[in-house]
Amino acid sequence: MDKPTKAPAQSGVDQKTLWNGSAGRAWVHNQRLLDQLFAPFEALLASDGVLGAATHVLDVGCGTGATTLAIARRLGVQGACVGIDLSEPMIAVARNRAAQEQVNVRFLAADAQAHAFERADFDLIVSRFGVMFFEDPVRAFANLRRAARADARLSFIAWRSAAENPFMTTAERVAAPLLPNLPVRPPGGPGQFAFADPDRIRAVLAESGWSDIDVQAIDVACAMPEDGLVPYLTWLGPVGQLLQDADERTRARIIEPLRAAFAPYVHGGEVRFDAACWHVSARAQGSAR
Ligand SMILES: C[S@@+](CC[C@H](N)C(=O)[O-])C[C@H]1O[C@@H](n2cnc3c(N)ncnc32)[C@H](O)[C@@H]1O
Repeated sequence: MDKPTKAPAQSGVDQKTLWNGSAGRAWVHNQRLLDQLFAPFEALLASDGVLGAATHVLDVGCGTGATTLAIARRLGVQGACVGIDLSEPMIAVARNRAAQEQVNVRFLAADAQAHAFERADFDLIVSRFGVMFFEDPVRAFANLRRAARADARLSFIAWRSAAENPFMTTAERVAAPLLPNLPVRPPGGPGQFAFADPDRIRAVLAESGWSDIDVQAIDVACAMPEDGLVPYLTWLGPVGQLLQDADERTRARIIEPLRAAFAPYVHGGEVRFDAACWHVSARAQGSAR
């Protein structure tokens, strides 16, 4: 059966508002913690195996820029890495970080679905968890295809299903009975698990001009210090975003049951879990424009 490639309409969720508002604030406030937690994916995307002979790399949904900067460091003066992101506050952090290093990097505050890239220049397009939020993924990946040279490669990381990633959903399961306003993640809509279905990934990429599509399941060990757990839970995901504006009484009422539910992830001063993800690769074929 054909898989629908266009995300269902969202009720009240506007990605631009979200990433320039509560979600962007959460990622800016917790930048160091998140970069530590997701460092294995930065290392993967900046590895020889992914970079190959690429010299002009685009990082989509680059956020506060960790992966963009890591790639720019690897490319050195021979190449350049551009990061694009919808979130002005996250791009501001990325630019600030770049200003403190001698790296060939540039950051664009723009929507990757629609941005008119100057020319078909990139020989590699990467993303660490930045491509699941498109309202129209086919339009987005077709636009990225136009930004790519003929024969350029695509390499991105996306989450597998919520069921395979209990660390990411335990907070909402525990908090739902206590927080009646907790938003429910709309199935199939833009969001963390939008690419859980590998057939949907293949259909979106095939429809938007990518070929040699390869979707590999990877299970990646992630870790952060134990004192990062409460900041993580009270800033990120649907629960964290709601708690950002909650009064102290509500926060106190939620934090203890949350902490108890996450006890199985705490090991000797560290929080550890396996991230169940897809590593997706594809190739742009033919003329880009
Ligand atoms: C989960 S965060 C990942 C950020 C970064 N890649 C990292 O790993 O630190 C998702 C990012 O995608 C960005 N994003 C969402 N929709 C986008 C779009 N249409 N164009 C560009 N960026 C987008 C968000 O602003 C956010 O920074």
